[in-house]
Amino acid sequence: MQNYFKLTRPAMEWLAERYGTPLLVLSLEQVQSNYRFLTEHLPGVKLHYAVKANPDRRLVKALADMGSCFDVASDGEMMDLASMGVDPERIIYANPVKTASGLAVARRTGVHKFTFDSEHEISRIAQAIPGGTVLLRVRVDNPRALVDLNKKFGAHPDEALHLLQVARQHGLDVAGLCFHVGSQSPSADAYLEAIQVFRRLFEAAAAEGFALRVLDIGGGFPIPTPQENIDVVAMTGKISKALAQNFPHTELWAEPGRFICGTTTNLITRVIGTQIRNNQQWYFLDEGLYGTFSGVIFDHWDFHLETFRQGQFIPATFAGPSCDSLDIMFRDKMTVPLAVDDLILVPNCGAYTSASATTFNGFGKAPIIVWEEARAEMPAAVELAAVG
Ligand SMILES: Cc1ncc(COP(=O)(O)O)c(C=O)c1O
Repeated sequence: MQNYFKLTRPAMEWLAERYGTPLLVLSLEQVQSNYRFLTEHLPGVKLHYAVKANPDRRLVKALADMGSCFDVASDGEMMDLASMGVDPERIIYANPVKTASGLAVARRTGVHKFTFDSEHEISRIAQAIPGGTVLLRVRVDNPRALVDLNKKFGAHPDEALHLLQVARQHGLDVAGLCFHVGSQSPSADAYLEAIQVFRRLFEAAAAEGFALRVLDIGGGFPIPTPQENIDVVAMTGKISKALAQNFPHTELWAEPGRFICGTTTNLITRVIGTQIRNNQQWYFLDEGLYGTFSGVIFDHWDFHLETFRQGQFIPATFAGPSCDSLDIMFRDKMTVPLAVDDLILVPNCGAYTSASATTFNGFGKAPIIVWEEARAEMPAAVELAAVG
């Protein structure tokens, strides 16, 4: 399994005491390690980090420093990257349906690579950025993914040639095709099927006089956690082999989000209340569904809670701190009995967590500190106990 960042108990306790809770602890070394892993295991594929998964500027800067390109979805993400001095050549605006202000910001900041999946979008892009470079997003079906993006995006393969022709007629630089197999895809299968479909689409396009030069295989690479037995080395090996066989002369891009940031961050949260309701144990935490645990709703993610007491496991309900009755993260989650003030460590909290958190009810978003900076302040005894 690919390694992941996890604090030890002494390090967690020290950080909770020093910074308070809830607290997110981000390891930039883990960001670098994840980026390096994908560059090594998907050789020749230009990685465009999907900023939506975690837009933290320190994380983005670490990737920019390593030479990463970026996938953005909005005007805000483009402006953030522009303010960090990221060259627009390294950016693809990969939202198939763009806002007017998104297109205006692309024009202003020099971003000129786009994805599209409809005729209507072609004229909007051509009007805003004449001669812009475009990739057609084509739908692939993958019911195995945790989040199926193909219900919302992607032209049907039968429409592909027509859309490429319309894009060419509008004077756009028709560079290639892209897909996204869905987020947290547990195996290589969907990629391998897509690669076959796209091989045929490239051939059909060539017969119509298109010299497509780019295939973008999107994101979806899974967060390897101890709970899920996913062999990412084998998975990327199969994808790489299929790409080399089917697309030896094509420029290859990918848009990994969760794989890069998921394992980089730990949440430290605290029990702030306990209750017995209808014969069930309830625990109230200082972080909830409107905060880091927003991933329960938006990302369908089942967070693993690490606790530090001994005892018989019981089913419990875990709720967040807000006054909304929706703010319940887990029901019937097996746990040892906990007490008020107990700390809970939640590893693998870096993707689609803080990014989709709100400040509902006036609860601030959990602050994010950088582990490598915090570690430098720790007394030696604690620091030695902490692992990355
Ligand atoms: C167009 C696009 N690219 C990349 C990603 C990143 O996907 P993942 O985090 O699964 O790698 C997404 C996620 O929604 C997406 O919509």
